[in-house]
Amino acid sequence: MKSIDDVRDVAGKRVLIRCDFNVPLQGDQITDDGRIRAALPTLTALRDRGARLVIMAHLGRPDGSVNPAYSLAPVARRLSELLGVQVALATDVVGPSATATVAALNDGDVALLENVRFEPGEASKVDIEREALAAKYAALGDLFVSDGFGVVHRKQASVYEVATLLPAYAGYLVQREVTVLKRLTTEAVRPYVVVLGGAKVSDKLAVVDNLLTVADTLVIGGGMAYTFVKAEGNEVGASLMDATKVDACAQCLDKAKDRILLPVDARTVDPAELDFATMTLSGDVAVTAIDEIPADRAAVDIGPATETLFAKKILEAKTVFWNGPMGVSEIEALSQGTRVVAEALVTSSAFTVVGGGDSAAAVRAFGYADAQFGHISTGGGASLEYLEGKTLPGLAVLEEA
Ligand code: 3PG
Repeated sequence: MKSIDDVRDVAGKRVLIRCDFNVPLQGDQITDDGRIRAALPTLTALRDRGARLVIMAHLGRPDGSVNPAYSLAPVARRLSELLGVQVALATDVVGPSATATVAALNDGDVALLENVRFEPGEASKVDIEREALAAKYAALGDLFVSDGFGVVHRKQASVYEVATLLPAYAGYLVQREVTVLKRLTTEAVRPYVVVLGGAKVSDKLAVVDNLLTVADTLVIGGGMAYTFVKAEGNEVGASLMDATKVDACAQCLDKAKDRILLPVDARTVDPAELDFATMTLSGDVAVTAIDEIPADRAAVDIGPATETLFAKKILEAKTVFWNGPMGVSEIEALSQGTRVVAEALVTSSAFTVVGGGDSAAAVRAFGYADAQFGHISTGGGASLEYLEGKTLPGLAVLEEA
């Protein structure tokens, strides 16, 4: 991959940069700005060299239509503060506002286009729709820099197609992430434990099979665990569960039961008392054995016996990769399992990597410093797919450039 250090003369050029600013929000408040901070070295280096920056980013999954709840306005505000310069937010992605905002840039200025996922072409399954949108992006830049590591596993117009249309380079964040993750694929010291959690159930279940070929043990908690718990023959009540994946989970367990560690107990709530919009819980939390989850309750954190089991396995490891919280870690009463995992990683003498926006946000919210871990990756799904040995479209296209 060519790096931004390979660009000879960038002064006065419009540099189109893909960042991953998919940050957690409460209302319009960013609760963890780690992904924005992670982009600063690349943005600052290019500004210092006189480039005119045009940033593309997504927030959430607005599925191709304009939805103000997913506006990048909070990101523009935070980025302005962190860079110490006014970031101009275009009110559209490739429309008149974007064109005018980019045309008004002077050397060293920064523009942010609105959420690229407001455009139906961005994540379209139809190649020509992505290509048509990418051509509009490309018209806004003279060269392309890929620095949104968290999204390089997506074959989307602002990640992949645009990189085929302009001279394309890797930013410092992408370079650093690849360097660390490569170490986990080529020289992981064993025992190597991968801890998985989080709520993107279908995405995560797809990686388990491949990770079993890489890691010695998979420790599985969070929302994704309950499809496995169901596959073990237990009822999971109102817990998150993907019925279409139960058979696949059962096959994984048949193949490698002794290398997959699942919850033995859980903290449950009445789902009607859990409000994800405000991240508040109005009712009680009960601890139940994993084969006794009541029909009307949802498992939303691992239980105390599971914490002990998971922490022990983590502390025996020499390499640990962790992706995804063990429960709804934004809510104090449901953050205990995630805390215990974070604590085990910090205590351990293993090489530890935390991957993904939610896990990174959780460890920072608990008061841990990034330096207490071997590496905090900005990519959740991206880092998992990298570890699985998959070809990530957003990296492959840079290698071909
Ligand atoms: C992430 O949060 O993992 C990245 O920003 C990718 O988001 P996505 O899973 O919605 O593509």
